[in-house]
Amino acid sequence: MRSVYLDHAASTPVHPEVAEEMMRVMTSQYGNASSVHAYGREAKRLVSGSRDKMATLLGCMPDELVFTAGGTESDNLAILGTMEAVGLQGKHVITSAIEHHAVLHTCEELEKRGCEVTFLPVDDEGRVSVEEIANAIKENTVLITIMFGNNEVGTVQDIRTIGELAHSKNIVFHTDAVQALGTEHIVCRDFPVDLWSFSAHKINGPQGIGALVVKRGHVLSPRLFGGLQEKKRRAGTENIAGIVGFAKALELAVQGLDHRRAHYMMLRESFIESLTHEIGDEAFVVNGHPEFYMPHIINISFPGVSTETMLMNLDMEGIAAASGSACTSGSLEISHVLQAMSLSEKLLRSAIRFSFGLGNTRQEMEYTARKIGTILNRLRK
Ligand SMILES: Cc1ncc(COP(=O)(O)O)c(C=O)c1O
Repeated sequence: MRSVYLDHAASTPVHPEVAEEMMRVMTSQYGNASSVHAYGREAKRLVSGSRDKMATLLGCMPDELVFTAGGTESDNLAILGTMEAVGLQGKHVITSAIEHHAVLHTCEELEKRGCEVTFLPVDDEGRVSVEEIANAIKENTVLITIMFGNNEVGTVQDIRTIGELAHSKNIVFHTDAVQALGTEHIVCRDFPVDLWSFSAHKINGPQGIGALVVKRGHVLSPRLFGGLQEKKRRAGTENIAGIVGFAKALELAVQGLDHRRAHYMMLRESFIESLTHEIGDEAFVVNGHPEFYMPHIINISFPGVSTETMLMNLDMEGIAAASGSACTSGSLEISHVLQAMSLSEKLLRSAIRFSFGLGNTRQEMEYTARKIGTILNRLRK
């Protein structure tokens, strides 16, 4: 049976060139970057070289880059680190209802610790209104955290305008750009953003390594205590192979960005075209924003067929897709993102996220659309 992987927003395969560099490091380098001997110096050289390379590619200073264990840790460090540095009690944070759980649950934790948090709604295309953010700002607002691009529906926010608004009121602005890296043009210094979260495994890098870009001068309270690594912002021996792999993945992603975008646009368009041909355009609805979206994520509802049933049938055909929801005790939860977009029950309960990657082809899109046609016919019978 053919197998088609359309869940790259969950995780991507490691690029062979990334794996090759990591393998070289893992098999030849075992020093600790904090050691003073030659082995340690070699480890340190690898970390510094990767940091310099990534800083150039991201448009930030090397000392603005903090390596973490992934997007979740970057979000936690950005949010808790910022708020603990100013004292949590009586402070206010603004976020949106469609953030990744790494942000939402961290904000809920802030509430437990005495902060006030406003969770802003979004429109039915998944966009946060800048006006509503402006109206939510109070005297005690310290932080605004709004994601760059949504991991379930792909909608991109107006990060530049939100950042300008935040800075005009002296408010810190954090964006979770985990899904946007590799498909959106990101040059950190060109945006009014103080904190950026990134993760390597969404761009064909290894799992378990991420980064937080912290604008110079911004003070963070650390989440981990121990050694002096990452300028005391993140203690712990560096994940050298992961860091080298992340730097290589970023290099490939940034150099190939226009090609990637064009490839994903082609996949998206041919998928919609093939679906229209196979099942007719009345049998499916594309959720998300029609103009401001990341091309590698498309969320589609097939009214009348539950998300669970479609995912199971796709899996039986060798096609891996996703719902936006986490799987708990065997049943799928309704997506908080689609709920926040106030989609009708029939769209909400039949939504599937397809997310593309480098290896996907037009033929796979046609194949998947054909299989969806077969599944719908089978279920109708
Ligand atoms: C938008 C977004 N933020 C954060 C994360 C968490 O990143 P990680 O898996 O590296 O912890 C993800 C991963 O799915 C994501 O899509």
